[in-house]
Amino acid sequence: MTDYFTETGSAETVNARVGEGTDPRLATVMAALVRHLHAFIKEVQLTGDEWDVAIEFLTRTGQICSNERQEFILLSDTLGVSMLVDALNNRRPAPATENTVLGPFHVADAPMRSMGDTISQGGKGEPCLYRGRVFDLAGNPVAGALIDVWSDNEDGFYDVQQPGLQPKWNNRGRFLTGADGAYHFFGIRPVSYPIPHDGPVGMMLQALGRHPWRPAHTHFMVSAPGYERIVTHTFVAGDRYLESDAVFGVKASLIVDFVPDPTGQAQWCADFDFVMVPA
Ligand code: BEZ
Ligand code: FE
Repeated sequence: MTDYFTETGSAETVNARVGEGTDPRLATVMAALVRHLHAFIKEVQLTGDEWDVAIEFLTRTGQICSNERQEFILLSDTLGVSMLVDALNNRRPAPATENTVLGPFHVADAPMRSMGDTISQGGKGEPCLYRGRVFDLAGNPVAGALIDVWSDNEDGFYDVQQPGLQPKWNNRGRFLTGADGAYHFFGIRPVSYPIPHDGPVGMMLQALGRHPWRPAHTHFMVSAPGYERIVTHTFVAGDRYLESDAVFGVKASLIVDFVPDPTGQAQWCADFDFVMVPA
């Protein structure tokens, strides 16, 4: 049968062209993508002008990308796709620590620091003691867990957003737990900030009546041999954007009370334990 393109059989015609030697997973994913894309276009009865706008939007999304700016990650985050992919791939039993969105501001190989050090190089912001322990599911301490932490500064910017203005590695560091699985270090109480919104994603949010703000949070990536890596944040309880995070990253288990530091060393103290699951 000749498979000329028709409106009704559009997706099937495209998918029938896939060659025999194609990687099976690629064939499955692409066939589903084509099916859903064609169904979407039919559902909304997309006009030619609307498709031109979409092409222009994606073109600008690519054009604004650089080493410091990843607009496609922002697009994925603001559409809830990053959180959905993470949810599908990181189902964990309680009381394991839940993941949340990685975001575009992680930098690999931050300086290794000693317990009790500060990650705040700028000397501004409200000082905060971060402390807790890393456990396995049975409640045993995890020794040798690498805690990679990063946060914004007192004005809501990561160091990589303000090169030359902020010291390199400001509000970043890595810490290794000892036999008791404990960690403690100093940083600042983070502040809520808008995700970069001067590009196509910002225009999309505005057109949809959505704000670009994220509630105040501190990022953590915790890894240890034999355990699943945790990519998460702690969120500051009481933040006005907890229920409307622009990237849908908030989970109830990750909200932490920042209390006056009982040790008197800092203004605030945030206690949080991480629970890891076997790899
Ligand atoms: C962040 O928390 O660093 C972030 C996450 C998603 C988009 C933009 C920023
Ligand atoms: Fe962040």
